[in-house]
Amino acid sequence: MMLDALRCSNRSSRIPIWMMRQAGRYQPSYAQLRQKYSFDELCLIPELACQVTLLPIQEMDLDAAIIFSDILFPLKALDLDVRFSQSSMPSVHSKDGKADTSEGRAQSAIRATSDEEHLLQECSPVYDAIRLVRKELPSHKPLLGFAGAPWTLLTYILEGKSSPHAMASRVFMSSMTEESKYLLRKVEDLIVHHLNRQIEAGALAVQLFDSWSSELDSESFARWATEPLKRIVSRLKTLPSGERCPVIYFTKGMAYRYSDLLETGIKGLSCDVSLCPSKIAFEAYKKSVAVQGNLDPALLCLPKEHPELKRRLTDLLERASPFSNYIFNLGHGVPKEADYNTVRFVAQTVREWKRA
Ligand code: CP3
Repeated sequence: MMLDALRCSNRSSRIPIWMMRQAGRYQPSYAQLRQKYSFDELCLIPELACQVTLLPIQEMDLDAAIIFSDILFPLKALDLDVRFSQSSMPSVHSKDGKADTSEGRAQSAIRATSDEEHLLQECSPVYDAIRLVRKELPSHKPLLGFAGAPWTLLTYILEGKSSPHAMASRVFMSSMTEESKYLLRKVEDLIVHHLNRQIEAGALAVQLFDSWSSELDSESFARWATEPLKRIVSRLKTLPSGERCPVIYFTKGMAYRYSDLLETGIKGLSCDVSLCPSKIAFEAYKKSVAVQGNLDPALLCLPKEHPELKRRLTDLLERASPFSNYIFNLGHGVPKEADYNTVRFVAQTVREWKRA
C-alpha cells in the first residue's frame, strides 16, 4: 500500500503510515536496549540494527520499515571519523593527520580513495542488516533505505557537527573553487553507491534527508540540492520489478522549494511543517509524485487524550486522505521526548481512518 501511494495509485481504503525516527528513545523497548548498547553498536551490529528496525512495526503495525542507521556512517569512507557523544550528538573529525578544521576535513575527504570497496568496508553492516530485515518483514511491508542529501552531508564535513546556519559550508561552497566542486561530486558518488548497495540488499524505496538546506538561497539550493538530486536519481538501480528505485526527498522549508523539486525525478516529497501535503497533492499527482507528512512532531509530546492532538490530526487526515498519492508521516522525526502512548494513538487513528 505504501508503494502504491508512492506510485500515486493507492486504491485501498486506508492511508499508509510510517514516521521519520520511528525507532528511537521514546520507545521503552529501544530505551532498554540503549542501556546495554551504544548507538553505534545498535546501528553497526546487523542483528541489533535488524531488531531495532522491526520494533515500531511490531509495536504499531506501521506500513513501512526504515533501516536503523545514521546518515553520517558513510562519511567514514571519506577517511573521516564519525562519533556520537553520550547524549548522541554527532561529530565528524579528520583522522589522517590533517588538522581537525573545516579545511582539514575537506582536504581529508578530497584526498580519500572513496571507491566502492572502501564504502563496503565501512558500511557493510548496514547492508547486512537490510538483508536480515527483509527476511523478517512481512512481504507487503517495504523496507526503506536512506542517505543524507549532498548539502547536509557537506555541512557535517565542513562544520564537524550539526549546524543549521552552516556558515563555513556556505563560504567554502560559494567560493566555487575546483576543490569545492570536486567535493560535491565526491559526496554525490558516495550517496549513489551507498543507496545502490541498500537497493541491492533489499530496500524498495529510499529517502534522502536534507535537514540543513533551508538556509540556502535559491541559486545555491539549485546548485547544491536540486541539480545533485537529479543526477543521483538518474544513477540509482532498478528494483526487482524493473522500475527505478523511487526516491523521497525531505527538506525543511518545503513550502518555497517544492515546485523545483517536482522536476527532479523524485517520486516523493516529504513535507516538513511549512507545507501541508494536501496543498500540493494534486499538483504533485500530475507529475507522478507522492506527498508525505506533515504532523507537527511536537504534538506527539502531548498526552494522547489532549483535544488539540485529535483536532490537528483529524484536520490533516480530512484534508490529505482523499489523495491517492498521500502517505502519512510527520513534519520531522519523532522527538525523544514524545509520549509513547501518544505515538501509538496516532498510528492507530491513521490505521483506522477510512479514506473518502
Ligand atoms: O528514521 C529512522 O527511524 C531511521 C534512523 C535514523 C537515525 N538518524 C537514527 C538516529 C535516520 C533516518 C537518521 C537521519 C539523520 N541523522 C538526520 C536527518 C534527519 C533529521 O533528523 O534531520 C540527521 C541530521 C542525522 C544526524 C544525527 N544523528 C543527529 C543530529 C543526531 C542527534 C540528535 C538526535 O536527534 O538525537 C543523531 C543520533 C541519532 N540518529 C539517534 C537516532 C535514533 C539518537 C540515538 C540514541 O541516542 O539512541
